[in-house]
Amino acid sequence: MTTASLSDEVKVEDWQFYDVRSAPVLRWLRQTEPVFHYKPLDFWILNKYDDVRFASRTPELFSVEQGVLINDARFGRNVALDFFDPDGELVSVQDPPRHGEIRRAIAPAFTPNAIGALEDSLRAKTRELFDAVPRGQAFDFVHSFARIIPTIVVCQLVGVPPEEIDVEQIIFWGDEMPKVGAALSQEELAEAASNLDDLKVFLLDLFDRRRANPGVDLMSILGRAQLDGKAVTRANVLTLAELTLLAGIDTTRNTMSATMWSLAQHPSQLAKLVADPSLVKGTIEEVLRWVTPVPGFMRNAKQDIEMRGRTIKKGQYVFLHYFAANRDEDYWSDPDTFDITRATETGVLSFGYGQHACIGAALARLEVRVMLETFLARFSSVELAGTPKRVESPLQHGWHSLPLIMR
Ligand code: HEM
Repeated sequence: MTTASLSDEVKVEDWQFYDVRSAPVLRWLRQTEPVFHYKPLDFWILNKYDDVRFASRTPELFSVEQGVLINDARFGRNVALDFFDPDGELVSVQDPPRHGEIRRAIAPAFTPNAIGALEDSLRAKTRELFDAVPRGQAFDFVHSFARIIPTIVVCQLVGVPPEEIDVEQIIFWGDEMPKVGAALSQEELAEAASNLDDLKVFLLDLFDRRRANPGVDLMSILGRAQLDGKAVTRANVLTLAELTLLAGIDTTRNTMSATMWSLAQHPSQLAKLVADPSLVKGTIEEVLRWVTPVPGFMRNAKQDIEMRGRTIKKGQYVFLHYFAANRDEDYWSDPDTFDITRATETGVLSFGYGQHACIGAALARLEVRVMLETFLARFSSVELAGTPKRVESPLQHGWHSLPLIMR
């Protein structure tokens, strides 16, 4: 395959490019065009593990301020800003030093203690949902489980009282946000953004109530936090709470689905896990690597940058292809094989790397671990019971539905 034919045949803005079935194309890219210029949208793609890590930890060369989405390159502007309060500072698109200042305002909500405080209710809800799974009969895992647990958990983290969590309403908002990264028109994106107006009203009301009666949740933490020596502005409270709430739903849902989907297709790996539940952690890391639920994010070159003999020009977008890097043969042995017995601390790039590495990674890993432990306590097999319905977006490797049978 030549570079020209790759550009012609594979549309980098299409979801199929980030699907596990694109592994041969990604291998070809790493070996032939590791720093690849995608001409139709004039951006670069970094496909090698070391290059993705280098760019992620070098914000003085690779900025997030022009946006982190393929849509930002498509439309030449930071599309995500439309989804948030115009006066808020979105932490994911701030470079240092501002990035660190803002991230420190929400960090106390993600300490091991804060995450640990969510575990008991997470376990109870997970048990309740698994108790309802009909043994030996087909059911939709996304509908009955994967969409529900992450929604409830992030609501609790943000500070929604448990009895007030309207799961269907939050899921609706949770599904509007990732549209920011889908191959949609400007009009469709504007509609998704406006569908979040009610969420903003809901969050500001919640903030006022939590401030009057504070606890240990994110809203209460933001009520006490200082930024620039002053209370955090309402616009920033809103932006931080909205991002935290919505960044933790579809991502974790898709990782849960990816876990069951991968095990269903690899019965010999599932048998190893059933025989040795200490492989749970290794299974989670391997699913994160092999599927890569968030396939990658963009950066923008702050100056001309030489990489592997190519010149990225100042102002050009650069896509950090976590999925391609997670399959890099120079870093992983036999990378296209799904193997839950790899060492657990393998350094997956699925949560990003460097300053912007996912702040919710420990929480997401906990949710998937509790899911697997609860599954293993009840069942010893899982199989596909029909054709899963894929989410068709380059921002998500996930499923709208995943019919399964558990025994
Ligand atoms: C398995 C589930 C998850 C995956 C795969 C995932 C993936 C990622 C990735 C790749 C980034 C890096 C963005 C970049 O470098 O441009 C990120 C950032 C972020 N994630 Fe996650 N995430 C997950 C779960 C969560 C959860 C549960 C939360 C919160 C409850 C969360 C909140 C955030 C936030 C706020 C950022 C921005 C951090 C910053 O810019 O400093 N994520 N996530």
